[in-house]
Amino acid sequence: MDKIDVFLEFSSIIYGIERDKVGEGMQFNENNEIINVIEQRAILVGLSTGTRDEITTIENSMEELKELAKAAGAVVLDMVVQNRPRVDAAYYIGKGKAEEIKIFCRALDANLVIFNDELSGAQIRNLEELMEVTVIDRTTLILDIFAQRAQSKEGKLQVELAQLRYRLPRLIGLGNSLSRTGAGIGTRGPGEKKLELDRRHILDRISDIRHQLEEIRKNRETQRTKRRKSEIPVVALVGYTNAGKSTLMNKLMSISGVQQEEKEVYVEDMLFATLDTAHRKMVLPSKEEFILIDTVGFVSKLPHSLVEAFKATLEEVQEANLLLHVVDATNEDFEMQIKVTEKVLNELGVKDKPTILIFNKIDKQEDQSALIPRGENIVHLSALKDIGIDILMQMIKDKLFSNMKKVSLLLPYSKGDIVSYLCDKTKVVKTEYREDGVLVETTVGPADYNKYRQYQVNKAEMAE
Ligand code: GTP
Repeated sequence: MDKIDVFLEFSSIIYGIERDKVGEGMQFNENNEIINVIEQRAILVGLSTGTRDEITTIENSMEELKELAKAAGAVVLDMVVQNRPRVDAAYYIGKGKAEEIKIFCRALDANLVIFNDELSGAQIRNLEELMEVTVIDRTTLILDIFAQRAQSKEGKLQVELAQLRYRLPRLIGLGNSLSRTGAGIGTRGPGEKKLELDRRHILDRISDIRHQLEEIRKNRETQRTKRRKSEIPVVALVGYTNAGKSTLMNKLMSISGVQQEEKEVYVEDMLFATLDTAHRKMVLPSKEEFILIDTVGFVSKLPHSLVEAFKATLEEVQEANLLLHVVDATNEDFEMQIKVTEKVLNELGVKDKPTILIFNKIDKQEDQSALIPRGENIVHLSALKDIGIDILMQMIKDKLFSNMKKVSLLLPYSKGDIVSYLCDKTKVVKTEYREDGVLVETTVGPADYNKYRQYQVNKAEMAE
């Protein structure tokens, strides 16, 4: 066995190589035309400094990188991890290792090398020159997946903004490699042509996108004000990518009896199937209503520019009355995934929000029930197999509506302002114009209850 064989033998034991896949890597554009028939055959590269303050192990991080690469349409041929105390300024990994990877690329016919961390423009240029293949980093990969998945105008603009902001400081270092052609990973979104524009044009485009996003945001703000007016509480589904948020949303929708088959949320066993937030009005069996929003999945090392770009969309999470934090109970790294989600929420300014922690997929063999915490705001369920959903519904009801009170208020005609406030902001079930005032039957929260309890009348007395 020569050196390469030994290496491959070693890495296939650790990671399990998938070399027999043919035909993956094809991409379709908006018109369903194949735009990339060149198979993206990738080698993944990670660096373990041993000292880094990581919340996940290098093995798990590389496994996730592999899933991300597959989600982007690449075939993963091999994974390489170098143990090294420090990042190399010029090549990120050691130059000798980079030369070794060049040989693997030739041997395996790889045309793409994906690094597990962010690279500088100069590192990308040096590595591409040395290895003679396309080099991208984890952030570019994630941005690429987002560029492929974005559906709405806002989603597309947000991803383009994130891509431009990420590429801008790397333009100088990239030098010639900017003109590389092809429609592979890392080149979607703004596209190569646009990338050839000079800095000035990119800056103009960034400000143009910001402008358009601001317009969209204002629009949404108007809708949100309307929603606030109707006082329908908002519940947001958050969680690590692939935790089962969309599956749970579909399940809750089917229980709520809302006729929205055509609006079913897209579910796929792939990272980031959901990109744009989806809103659905839900009705509990006891008739209370709430708005449920599904959000983009989070992932470890979510590019900062992306979190920035999606802040506007995720503003709705900031305003939600309740968070449903969905966790994949079968993932052995679920604790890390909870931490990452909490960290991103923190970055979004979402703190101390009432939250139900949902451990999903408990139907699966690998479920680790014994390890999963239990507690007041925790529920174990299976969105797919409909286990424990009723418990969750009850918890949502308790959290959102337990302090709501049904009241009958008799308001003198001089208090017309209160009557219109109640009609605007609360769910009025009945208004009756009587000699002595307007009788309003409605449901109010604790603040309104304290304010207006002086007008409360006993329904039985009124009937007499
Ligand atoms: P992103 O869009 O990436 O954020 O994913 P998501 O959190 O919306 O996950 P999604 O609902 O797309 O589910 C991911 C995968 O997990 C799909 O293959 C689902 O069928 C599967 N899944 C979801 N819930 C369950 C469950 O309760 N049990 C099992 N066995 N699988 C589930």
